[in-house]
Amino acid sequence: MSDALNYLLKVRKDAVEPYFKALKEGGKHLDVKTRSLLSVITKVDAQTERGLKQYLVRALREGNSADEILDAMLVCLPTLGMSKIIWAVDIILKMDIPDFNPEILGKEKKWHKIIAVNEIGEGVSRYDYDGRACFINKTGEEYQVFDSRCPHQAADIPLSALEGATLTCPNHQWKFNVDSGECIENGSRPLNEIEHKIDAGFFYIYS
Ligand code: FES
Repeated sequence: MSDALNYLLKVRKDAVEPYFKALKEGGKHLDVKTRSLLSVITKVDAQTERGLKQYLVRALREGNSADEILDAMLVCLPTLGMSKIIWAVDIILKMDIPDFNPEILGKEKKWHKIIAVNEIGEGVSRYDYDGRACFINKTGEEYQVFDSRCPHQAADIPLSALEGATLTCPNHQWKFNVDSGECIENGSRPLNEIEHKIDAGFFYIYS
């Protein structure tokens, strides 16, 4: 939310709160995926960079693919106009989100073979796959997998950002606990957890 809205909420709560209620109530029959996609479109239309970055990451987290986000913008071409779409795509390209890489676009989610299970060490390690990366946190026989992209603005977090159980995104210093994925400082959203399976001695992730 913008600093201006935060300010108005503080100093004119009664006047501004109904606006937020209307926004919330207005979308109550939509699933979260569709809602987040529409939010992206509103940010493109309003050309608010911070809002676009925030809702773009949220839309990906809620299950939209990069293809669906691009399609949604292009479907709205008659109302957005090409210049706003180009403005948005410029921002997306600067964010360097792997999902928008032309070589990844169009690919359905699938199981990726990462490594032989007996080669995964205790604790946190990072693995690259198909132009992206993930963290695997092994505790005994338990595994958790997190996307290496920050849930804030999708920065690719390196393994060197890990200190003890805390992973700190180099961009804006959101801090995450790698045992739970929770954001513990500076931010508000957890790391994106990725489904995994072990099959015939190999570790797979679904992404
Ligand atoms: S991209 Fe902003 S904290 Fe990670």
